[in-house]
Amino acid sequence: MKIQISEQQRAAWEKAAQYLLPSFRHNEQAGQIQLLAERGEGNYLIDLDGNHILDFNMLKNPFGHAPERLAARLAEQAGKLWDTEDVLSPLMGRVAERLVKLLPEGFSSISLYASGSEAMEAALSVARGAVSARRKRIMAMEGNYHGWTFGSLLASTNSAGRRTHPSWLSTVLVPMPRSLDALPGDTSSVDSSATLDVVKQTLKTDNSIGIFVAEPIQMTSGVGIPPQGFWAELREILQEHDILVISDEVSTGGWRNGSLLAAPELQPDLVVFCKTIGAGLGTCAMAARNEVTQRSRASVPMRHNQLAATIVDAALDEVNRLELPLKVPTMAVRLADAARNFRAKHRWICHARAFGLLATLDLLGDGTTRQDAESRAFALARAALERGLRLACVGSQVLLLPTLIIDEPGLEKAFGILEDALQALEADSG
Ligand SMILES: Cc1ncc(COP(=O)(O)O)c(C=O)c1O
Repeated sequence: MKIQISEQQRAAWEKAAQYLLPSFRHNEQAGQIQLLAERGEGNYLIDLDGNHILDFNMLKNPFGHAPERLAARLAEQAGKLWDTEDVLSPLMGRVAERLVKLLPEGFSSISLYASGSEAMEAALSVARGAVSARRKRIMAMEGNYHGWTFGSLLASTNSAGRRTHPSWLSTVLVPMPRSLDALPGDTSSVDSSATLDVVKQTLKTDNSIGIFVAEPIQMTSGVGIPPQGFWAELREILQEHDILVISDEVSTGGWRNGSLLAAPELQPDLVVFCKTIGAGLGTCAMAARNEVTQRSRASVPMRHNQLAATIVDAALDEVNRLELPLKVPTMAVRLADAARNFRAKHRWICHARAFGLLATLDLLGDGTTRQDAESRAFALARAALERGLRLACVGSQVLLLPTLIIDEPGLEKAFGILEDALQALEADSG
């Protein structure tokens, strides 16, 4: 059943959108149905008319909308101390210690930033400051996304920003080996030897490359998952050439699959993580191995914002209280099963992939070919939203990105709505 959007809400939406960049209007499914968020509760976004929208675009809110415990901690801190510039606080010290103790051996310091893009800037600066003047060139993988700032664009390919500023980007790109289908039990896999060969050959001839940037599971380009063992093999090659490795774990690290790091076998020298510790405020951490921080001549600022530190402290408490390392993998199996069944049932869904509590359904356009697949995916996400389920949408895919606290009824409900939405589209197309 479709949710009802009142004329009042539509008018309020128009008023709220009046002074925003026009691009906002065209890209947002919510904008197209003029849905205006007023508040949130757990897995639900609540609009001005009181419609409850099951939110499966929750990368940034892994504990749900307005989680009570986190809100209480923020309110308490807000009455005490906000930003302290460069003055240290016991809270900041405690948060840094907690984060460092979660990281692999060799990391002994971290810094906090306001967003993933900013944390990537810091990682790139520290890495570039640690390599010699002749080795500052970056190698990255096609399909990566690291943010929208100029530095993070250096390593991103999946970004409108890169298309706008291609001329000054001299990053060396190598293909990401990724299967079209990647659910537990899927047998289709890709051969990663071509990529490994390209990396080997390139590093033999190009001495200007000193840094490799990885997005271990490519999120924004649609849950790109390399075959098992790939990162460990790549790591060996990079090590032979003394290349510093930055792992961007902003999206897929942070317990999305139950662990802090999505690909620990990459053994990064610098790591950036993640939406979970920011829990909706955007706070991200950057950490570098001791050898790197000692070698680096870059001076990067750190945010001593006590509200940001509070959210990280409270988020880490929630990870423990909710037993996410234990519970997320169980729910992830349910999500992958549901995606598998959906793919099997609908000929419009040609591929499905999942990594922890993140799944994608890849659409065929006209039911048999890829023509118009992007507009079909957008139409599906929009039809789902009209029925009370919010999804993310990238290219020809709809992404299912629930909170880390999603339960079985929540998953069932989401796939029920998705089913209705797809049936409605199929009926419309005749
Ligand atoms: C892998 C990855 N890196 C970096 C970023 C940039 O993070 P932010 O949007 O917080 O700047 C994103 C955002 O989605 C991301 O997915």
